[in-house]
Amino acid sequence: MSRTDVIIQGYLFKYGTPLICVIILYMIVASYFESVRNKLYALYVIKCDNVYERMTKHYKKELFSPLHSLVSANWKLRNQGLIRILEIGVRTGQNLKYYPKNSHVILADRNSRLEKHFKSADYKKIDQLNVVKYIQSYGENLAEIPDESVDAVVATLVLCSAPDVDRMLGEIWRVLVPGGIYFFLEHIQEPDDPSLRRMQNILTKIKVWPYVFDGCHLNRNVKKNIKQIKFKEVNCDHLQFDMKDPYPLKFTRTHIIGTAIK
Ligand SMILES: C[S@@+](CC[C@H](N)C(=O)[O-])C[C@H]1O[C@@H](n2cnc3c(N)ncnc32)[C@H](O)[C@@H]1O
Repeated sequence: MSRTDVIIQGYLFKYGTPLICVIILYMIVASYFESVRNKLYALYVIKCDNVYERMTKHYKKELFSPLHSLVSANWKLRNQGLIRILEIGVRTGQNLKYYPKNSHVILADRNSRLEKHFKSADYKKIDQLNVVKYIQSYGENLAEIPDESVDAVVATLVLCSAPDVDRMLGEIWRVLVPGGIYFFLEHIQEPDDPSLRRMQNILTKIKVWPYVFDGCHLNRNVKKNIKQIKFKEVNCDHLQFDMKDPYPLKFTRTHIIGTAIK
């Protein structure tokens, strides 16, 4: 064995074993936290989604009703009475049931694990839609979708967790045809209760909330961001839900709901 081999062997013996132990320890701790996080998230997804679904269904039905009278800018679809919809942050397809039959739909979500749930989910409505494609992508980067190519964009309960709200709104504006409509429903920072607002700030700033709830921010006011985009018209209402159960939903009780027309 050469002198260099002996030196390397010495180093490996001295530092290699502790290094391997540290890596193994790190992997155990990381997977433990990941599993805790996944469990919490699953709990949230199942419980909070159901509550949200129950609480928002009436408002969503009303919000999406203009989709049924929207006329496509594409003459072929217009002649068939169809429209093109892009949904960003589709999760497992909660909004699909509100879309007009046979609509051409593009679905986008950043979460790669959702497509399988989406496909296996019992959303019978999907059979009545023409899903043109499913894109696993951030709403901030929809390069696959050409400019001015969709009649409507739906993004509900998504901006709270977007890494770059303005960029996503810019993409929404870009892909909409002139006269196209962006439909939104988002929770925002509490406007009236200072102690709740303080809690929202703390939970978001120390990153506990975003960590557990998939990047969600409690302290955003995305109404301002929407208004800053050059939409021709923004119609926006405030909603305040009486969120009793599960507890985390108390922190997201105030919402904006509306449309923005390009
Ligand atoms: C709270 S769920 C909302 C689901 C559904 N839109 C609804 O109204 O019930 C948020 C979804 O948006 C997705 N999402 C969050 N930020 C995103 C982003 N920047 N780009 C694309 N999808 C995003 C998440 O993966 C998740 O599926």
